[in-house]
Order: sequence, then C-alpha cells, then structure tokens
Amino acid sequence: MTTHIRRAAVAALLLGVSAVAVRADVMAPTTPPDAPKFDAQGSPVFVNRSDIFEYKALLAYNEPAWVTAFVTAGKLPPVADRLPKEPLVYKTANEPDGTGVYGDVMRHVIGGRPEGWNFWAGQSYGWGGIDIGLVECLTRTGPLFEVNPTDLQPLPNLAKAWEWSEDGKVLTVHLIEGAKWSDGAPFNTADTEFYYNDIVKDPDVTPLMGASVDTYAGGVYANVDDYTFTLTFPTAFPESVLYNMAYGNFCPGPSHLLKPQHPKYGGKDYESFQKAFPADYMNFPTMGGWTVVEHRPDDIVVLRRNPYYWKVDEAGNQLPYLDEMQYRLSTWGDRDVQAVAGTGDFSNLEQAENYVESLKKAADPASPAKLAFGPRTIGYSLLPNLSGNGWGEPTADQQAIRDLNRNLDFRMAISYALDRQRLGDSLVKGPFTAIYPGGLYDGTSYYDKASTVYYPFSVDSAKAELEKAGLTDTDGNGFVNVKGGADLNVTLVTQSDYATDKNLAEGVVAMMADVGVKVSLSALTGKDFDNARDAGKFDWIVVRNGTELITVVQNTAQLAPTGPTTSNHHRANGKGELDLLDWEKAEVDTVTKFIGSRDPAERVALMKTYQNLYTTNLDGIGLTAYPGALIINKRFANIPAGAPIFMYNWAEDNIIRERVFVPTDKQIGAELHPNMLPGKPGDPGPIAAN
Ligand code: GLA
Repeated sequence: MTTHIRRAAVAALLLGVSAVAVRADVMAPTTPPDAPKFDAQGSPVFVNRSDIFEYKALLAYNEPAWVTAFVTAGKLPPVADRLPKEPLVYKTANEPDGTGVYGDVMRHVIGGRPEGWNFWAGQSYGWGGIDIGLVECLTRTGPLFEVNPTDLQPLPNLAKAWEWSEDGKVLTVHLIEGAKWSDGAPFNTADTEFYYNDIVKDPDVTPLMGASVDTYAGGVYANVDDYTFTLTFPTAFPESVLYNMAYGNFCPGPSHLLKPQHPKYGGKDYESFQKAFPADYMNFPTMGGWTVVEHRPDDIVVLRRNPYYWKVDEAGNQLPYLDEMQYRLSTWGDRDVQAVAGTGDFSNLEQAENYVESLKKAADPASPAKLAFGPRTIGYSLLPNLSGNGWGEPTADQQAIRDLNRNLDFRMAISYALDRQRLGDSLVKGPFTAIYPGGLYDGTSYYDKASTVYYPFSVDSAKAELEKAGLTDTDGNGFVNVKGGADLNVTLVTQSDYATDKNLAEGVVAMMADVGVKVSLSALTGKDFDNARDAGKFDWIVVRNGTELITVVQNTAQLAPTGPTTSNHHRANGKGELDLLDWEKAEVDTVTKFIGSRDPAERVALMKTYQNLYTTNLDGIGLTAYPGALIINKRFANIPAGAPIFMYNWAEDNIIRERVFVPTDKQIGAELHPNMLPGKPGDPGPIAAN
C-alpha cells in the first residue's frame, strides 16, 4: 500500500527543527499495482526446437514451374544444384496448415525508408521486416516464443551446429555447407570472417545494430575451414553470444561485394564504403528468402524470391512459398489502417491510439484481416542521460542537467511527477495499458513483483524531491531554476515517426510542467533520432524498449552499461571512459554474473537483484506497457497461433514468413513482377526467363 511519510515532517515542525533538514512529505515507494487483466488471444503450441526443422538431404526438390523456365533457358542451374548439401527442412507437423503452394505476395506498409544496402556499415533498410526478409543470421530467435522453456536456446540457422570446448573458452561453429547467395556465389567462412574481423572489430565501422566485440564477449575469431570457425573467449561459456548471433547482429553480408569496397582491401575510404550500395542499387545479394529488385523512392520497394534460398519443406519444395514481398513506403500509422482495410496485408498493431478503431473494424466477420492480441510487451521508458564525463559533448547548461540526472533525488522527482495511469489512458482507454515503473515487464519469465520498486504519482513528493536536488522556483514564474540562475530547461528527444512516442513525450512535458520543470520537446524523424540517441545528444529521451527487458536472455549485455556502447543512455566518452555510478556498477556486476552463470536458480536470483537495482535507482524511468496485436490478412496460411508481435524478435521473424503461403483459390494476383527473378547485382531490375 502507498503511505505518506509525514510523521518525520510533523515531528520536525513540533520540535521547531527546520523541515528542510528532514525528509519532507515524500510518498514511500511501493510495488507497482497489478496490471489490468488482458488475455493474449491464442496461445502457442509449445514444441522443442528439433520439432520445427532439421538439416537433411531429400531425394528430390521442386520449384515453381516459372522458375524451371529459367533453368531450361540456361539462366539458372537446376534447383538441386542451387541448394546446399543438406538444406534446412521445415517439418510438416509443425506447419500450422501443412505443406504450402507457390505464388502471391505479402503487401507490407512501412514508415521507414531504405538508406542503402550496407546494413553492415549502419544503413537502415527502413525496418518493418524488410531487413528480416533479406538478411539471415547464424542463429534465429523470433520463433522461440513457441519453444518449450526446457529447450530454450537459439535456433540454428546459417550456423547448423556449434559446440563448446571442455573449458568453455572455445566455441566451434559449423555453417551450413554449400549454401549460396542470391547471385549464386558461395556462402562460407570468408563471409563470417569478413563480418567479424572487418565489421565488428573495425572501430571505424558501426553495423546497424551496433554489434561490437563486447557483443561477442571479447571473442577472437579464427577460421578452421570453409564451413567451420571458432571464437575464443577470455571467460568460460559466455552462452549469450549464441543469442547475439541472431537477428541484428551476426548476419553476415556478401563479402564478395563488400570486401573490395572496404578501405583495408583497396576501398577508397570509410564513407565510400558505407555508401557503395545506395538504395537505387538493385539485386544486392542476400541469404534471405527474397531480394530487392525495384525501389521507387517514397513509393514502394519490391522483393522477388531468391532462387538460391537454402530452406525447403519436407516435400522438397524450395522456399519461400510467396514469390513476392512488397513494401509500400508510407507511415507506420497507415500500416494499421491498410492492414485492417485489406489494402495491406500485415501490421504490428503497436500504436495504442489505433486500437479501438482497428478492433471495431476487425470484429466485423466480413473484415479481410484477423487481429490477435499478444502479451504486454510493448513498453516505453524515459531515459535520463547518465553520462557525466562528456558523452555527446554537452554544453555547460547540458552538463548541469547531466549532473542532476545522476542525482537520485532528481530521478525520483521525475517518477513522482508522472501520472502513468493518465499517460496510458491518453493513448487508449480500457484494459490495455499498465503502469510501468521500468525494468523487466510484468508477465515475463524473470519478472518479480516483490523486487520491483515503484515511486507512484505524487506532485508533492515530486516537488519535495526537486527541492532536495537543489531545485526551487527562485523567480516565481512557476518553473524551478538552476542554482542562482535561469529556469532549468531540459530537452526531451523523441521519435516523431510514431504517434505514440510523440504523444507520450508530450504527456511527459505537461506532467513535468505541473511540478515546475520546464521540458522542451525535440521530435526527430527516424535516422536523426537514432543518430541523436547513439551520439548521446539528449538530456532525456523517450524510447520504445528493446527485447532484453522481455526475454533477458537476448541482448543481455544491453541491460546495463556493461560495455562502452551497450546502454542507450550511458555510453563512454570520446576517450572510451565510462563514469558509472555505484549502483550502475552493481547492475553491471549482476548482469555480468548472469551472463556467466549456467545455474537457473542463480540466474533467477540475479535478475531479482537487477530489477531491484534498476527500479530503486530509476535507471530508466518506465512510462507505460501494453499488448500489441498482429493484424494479418485472412488469406494467409501457416501463421503460428499465439505469435507475439514482439518478444525475441518482431512478428516478421516470428511467423516464419518463408513458410507462409496463400492457398491457390485465395491468391489475389497482385504481383508487380510476375514470373521474374532478381537479376545480376547492380543491374537495374528483375529478369525474365526469355
Ligand atoms: C519497426 C516497426 C515494428 C517492426 C519492426 C521490424 O520498428 O515499428 O513494428 O515492424 O520495424 O523491424
């Protein structure tokens, strides 16, 4: 229960002691209230990883008839020669609707824009799952939402197997043998070696998701042969690296194209390397199910099936089933609208403002789309910049805010000032949003309510904490002043491509004004937002949280500033120095122990400690958490039950799109390049058989 600690203040008054010297009128922290009940619709059928697929040679393979026409015309080797020795074979028993048929298209709508195809030098493809369809990684985690907890480990993918040395310091990874890039070039350890040694390890290259040697526990890479490599670590069994080999990180690029552009191998310079494959470069080789064949800026990106894709079904049909993927370049809000209307096929319903309208439309039996809510895993936090030693090169005024950010009283004031109930209700009324104090989410496996500390809404407490932090309104204009000076004025950076981010940030600004803290909003679009965040150019920032706060086992190192760049709001300065506060050191220590521990009970205990450190000290200040819904057109088959829009990864990975199909009688004939395949890298577009 929430109680006021007024007694000390009252006693102080009675004794005539200055009330300032004691803890004045501050609400005691508590545990968060229980979230409104909201049942996920459809629960997964839990299986072991080996139930989903295996690697094996089949007697014969099939392809769409129109692809055979390319073989007949001498433009493509026979399908058996395009596949690896032992392709990845999806098991029929795990396919919700069984063996599929070829054809049709999935029409996506996205708010992002492709910058270019050098993902490895930090270029974004525009999100919304374009990259997930193009880039494949050594392991895979999206489908783990349906894996039995007792079998929880990343799924093999481009890495078909791995083993640890007895002392746990050497990880040997076996790649799938004989798989090919979409242009027919071999995929092998030349690609993984280039990725690790010349991307991850090169300080002048930052891959899109920021992988560094820390992501791989300081591993040292060595090739054994064409399909085997080792990573050698300073510590034993850093098993989290296997999760960090999944989406976003260890997803090698085509070294046959990238390497000659890299400055170390004759490329001009790093900027030219980054820009060597601009967004109008077509047919950039992929290991994914599809390859980009057309891009009309601000209009559409079209992907056609990769004729060398290395996955098949048990009947020997080369995947994917869907011949084309389209990405309309619009807004994220439009993705919801179009998916519900049936002019788009897919959306992660994640902007709570659109819930009521979408639900209403989807409830109509004639609705073209199915909408299913999942667990409450969409969450937002307000992150104070905790660097006190120069990250982001603050001005003197900004430095004064950094010093405040590093003061717990100030962070407590922020939390007390936030009416999280109202913040959630301002997005959508109903049982969706929950009060989120920060840290691990309620309802996830490592969450522990008793270890969670919540500083509830209380204007008086916020004001008292501000005073303790040395902030009072000295000029009587309603806003607190920095010692002996002007109004404190905090800049809050937010992403403006999503209505939700902006609405939440605006709510924060208003609530902070109510307690006398002036906050100015800086709303930035996509890449500008990412750049500001990654460069530390903010006082406070509102972010949609990552997967680590849901699963813990994924991106674990990002739970705390365990390395120079792992945290979103506390990174090292230009000299590589991290000025951690004592409780941050304790957090880092806890997370590091978790990464190094193979004992489930110890891991549970460590996450309780982590949650307590995080929420007591308000590492990040939670705002709201709510469930997302997958909206998908009813014509699609093989959509697994209970696929969450965000857990280990986004739904575009979770639903295993290469296995998704449309029954022949439901196909809509909307392909823009029917019967065409990707052409040569750099050539203008797709090609026909004749
Ligand atoms: C964006 C969208 C998400 C999801 C991801 C996939 O972040 O907001 O819903 O589609 O892209 O990368």
